[in-house]
Amino acid sequence: MGVLYEVNNHIALITVNRPEALNALNTEVLQELDQAVSRAEADGDVYVAVITGAGKAFVAGADISQMKDFGAVEAKAFGEYGNRVFARIESMSKPVIAAVNGYALGGGCELCMACDIRIAGTKAKFGQPEVGLGITPGFGGTQRLPRIVGASKAKELIFTAETIGAEEALRIGLVSKVVPDEELMDTVMELAAKIARNAQIAVRQSKDAINRGLQSDIVTGLAYEAQAFAVCFSTEDQKDAMSAFVRKEKVTAFKNK
Ligand code: COA
Repeated sequence: MGVLYEVNNHIALITVNRPEALNALNTEVLQELDQAVSRAEADGDVYVAVITGAGKAFVAGADISQMKDFGAVEAKAFGEYGNRVFARIESMSKPVIAAVNGYALGGGCELCMACDIRIAGTKAKFGQPEVGLGITPGFGGTQRLPRIVGASKAKELIFTAETIGAEEALRIGLVSKVVPDEELMDTVMELAAKIARNAQIAVRQSKDAINRGLQSDIVTGLAYEAQAFAVCFSTEDQKDAMSAFVRKEKVTAFKNK
C-alpha cells in the first residue's frame, strides 16, 4: 500500500508509505492519496485529518524516475492530476494537519502547503528543488508558497532550489511550530484532538470562510464570513454552547448538529 489510512478518536491518519523511495509521489501513490482524502471527507466519524510520511521523509517530491521521460502532454496531465489531488486536500471541508517528519521537497513541500496547518519535527527539511532539475514546481508551489511566505522569499527559495531546515521554515512562517522529532506525532494528535473537541460545523465554516476570503477582496471575504456566521446560528451546537455559557456551564461534547 502506497498510502496507509486509519481512524482513531475522530482523527484520520493518512501516511504516505513508500519509504524505499522517500515517499516520492508517483501516479499510484497520488491515486491512493486521493482515495484516502475522499474517504476522510466522506466519513462522518472523521473530524480532522493528519497527513504524514513513513520513515525518514515526509515526501521527497514527485517521482523523478517516472517523470524523466515525460513529454509535455504527459507532464501536463501529471501536473494537473497532482494539482487536483492537492486542491481536494485544501478544499476538504475538515481541517487537515501536515505532520512534517522529514524531507518535504518539491511535491512534498507542495503537499504540506495544501494542508491547513503545518507542524514540523526538528529534522524536517523544506524546499522546491525543481529548477535544479530543469523544471518548475508543478503541484502548486509557484502559487501556494508566495501566498504563505510572501513573493520575495518564495522567489528566493524557488530560484535557488535551496533546502531549508525546520527552524528557518518556522521563521518565515512556512510552518507554525517545530517540536523534537520524537514528540511530533503526539503534538499533532493533541492539536487534532483539540480541534475535534470544538463544534465541527463552526470549524468547517471557519475553514471555508478563510479559504474563500484568501482568494477574494476583503469586502467579498467579509460577506463569506457573515454567511458562515449566520449558518452557525441554525445549529444546535450554537444554542447549546451559548445557553450553557449563560448558565455558567460548558458543553462537554458537541452534537455537531
Ligand atoms: N523521486 C524518485 N525517487 C526518489 C526521490 C524522488 N523525488 N527522492 C528520493 N528518491 C529515491 C532515491 O532515488 C533512492 O532510491 P534508490 O535507493 O533506489 O537509489 C531512495 O529514494 C533514497 O534516496 P537517497 O537519495 O539515497 O537518500 P539520501 O538520504 O541520500 O538523500 C534526498 C535524500 C531527499 C536529499 C535525495 O533523495 C533527493 O535529493 N531527492 C530528490 C528531491 C527532489 O529533487 N525532489 C523534487 C522532485 S521534482
